[in-house]
Amino acid sequence: MKTPLIRTPLPGPKALEFIRKDSELVSPSYTRVYPLVVQEAKGLWVQDVDNNRFLDFTAGIAVNATGHCHPEVVRAIQDQAAKLIHMSGTDFYYPPQIILAQKLAGISNTSGGAKVFFANSGAEAVEAAFKLARHHTRRAITIAFFGAFHGRTMGALSLTASKAYQKKHFHPFVPGVIHAPYPNCYRCPFGLRHPSCSLACVRWIEDPIFRTSVSPEEVAAIFVEPIQGEGGYIVPPAEFHVELARLAKKYGILLVADEIQSGMGRTGKMFAMEHFGVEPDILALAKGIASGMPLGAMIAGGNLMDWPAGSHASTFGGNPVSCSAALATIRLLETGLIENARIRGHQLMAGLREIQKRFECMGEVRGKGLMVGVEFVEDRISRQIAPDLRDRVVQGAFRQGLLLLGCGESTVRFCPALTISAEEVDTGLSIFEDTLDRINR
Ligand SMILES: Cc1ncc(COP(=O)(O)O)c(C=O)c1O
Repeated sequence: MKTPLIRTPLPGPKALEFIRKDSELVSPSYTRVYPLVVQEAKGLWVQDVDNNRFLDFTAGIAVNATGHCHPEVVRAIQDQAAKLIHMSGTDFYYPPQIILAQKLAGISNTSGGAKVFFANSGAEAVEAAFKLARHHTRRAITIAFFGAFHGRTMGALSLTASKAYQKKHFHPFVPGVIHAPYPNCYRCPFGLRHPSCSLACVRWIEDPIFRTSVSPEEVAAIFVEPIQGEGGYIVPPAEFHVELARLAKKYGILLVADEIQSGMGRTGKMFAMEHFGVEPDILALAKGIASGMPLGAMIAGGNLMDWPAGSHASTFGGNPVSCSAALATIRLLETGLIENARIRGHQLMAGLREIQKRFECMGEVRGKGLMVGVEFVEDRISRQIAPDLRDRVVQGAFRQGLLLLGCGESTVRFCPALTISAEEVDTGLSIFEDTLDRINR
């Protein structure tokens, strides 16, 4: 059985040198949480430049759905790269983009027959959805949620309300975005309890927003993450999305599901909205869609995608190599990986809940499939957030060879590749528990 192997102090000598150069040359806006300099990776195992081996529970921020360098994805990339790397789907046609559009339209849970716009990233998929919603409805206002992360370009950042420093000094944003409270039942923004709250978060959109600030006839779209990702892996109550969809429909508002982090099988279904039985009008995808090749997609019912030639496009969006990687990825998802995410997700959650019994600081274990978060607290009575402790856990796990990332204010996220085995889940759990023991909380 494979285990992490740490042979040098971290960072090792070669890593140290790269990090020194990086700090001279690369934008300081990136948030590197620990000094990992990756040389190569396969499946869930990452090797750094000093030959240390780590178990990866981050999947490159929930991207490598099929694990690092899955042989079928690598083959698809190599085959396509030998034939055609770029032609620009904006001006020309090529089969991989059209075949992928057909596949995505087929699997998407948007209401009505679907069409696909191709982009390079999550933020670009969101931008496309933002623009299409305005264009189609001719309405100017958009609703998004506090805690949401939709990306960092100016449009996507206008919808984002995750951490203030992400927006600091970038004002003013695209006008017409209103944020509403997201149903974080562990920390209800209204101080209520589910289900006696009667979904105060959905009602809040009608009153006060529609009563006091904007007429619903002026609202183009509601952007929502089915499960909030960067905001803390927050799973809303079962009926939230149904009620939100009902409200949107009542006023002719488009419901845009940002499945950039939660989609592509991660939650044990192709799209997380399937857990809630909701068909959004528009779907934004990226991250896991092409196993690490840059690709974003915005999928909308064919009747919605009525913008004329020239109204939106991207030179690189949907390039043939990324599309081929996506086709290989989806094939793998459909032939076992989504089911594996569901089964291994149960194992991971059950294991974390067992560990939670020993540690008062593990406030909540939540998630679906392999999108699992552990919220750290000072204690379970006060539920006071414990960001420093969370950071120590992430650092401690790294030193023991387990790669984790935080999200939200005080949460550790577990988002390994969907190829993860039962043994790898157990190895990750035991390092996590050991890390907590060493921190001695
Ligand atoms: C839900 C969600 N939307 C959008 C984005 C932005 O994606 P990208 O970083 O590819 O622009 C992210 C990235 O973390 C995300 O989690």
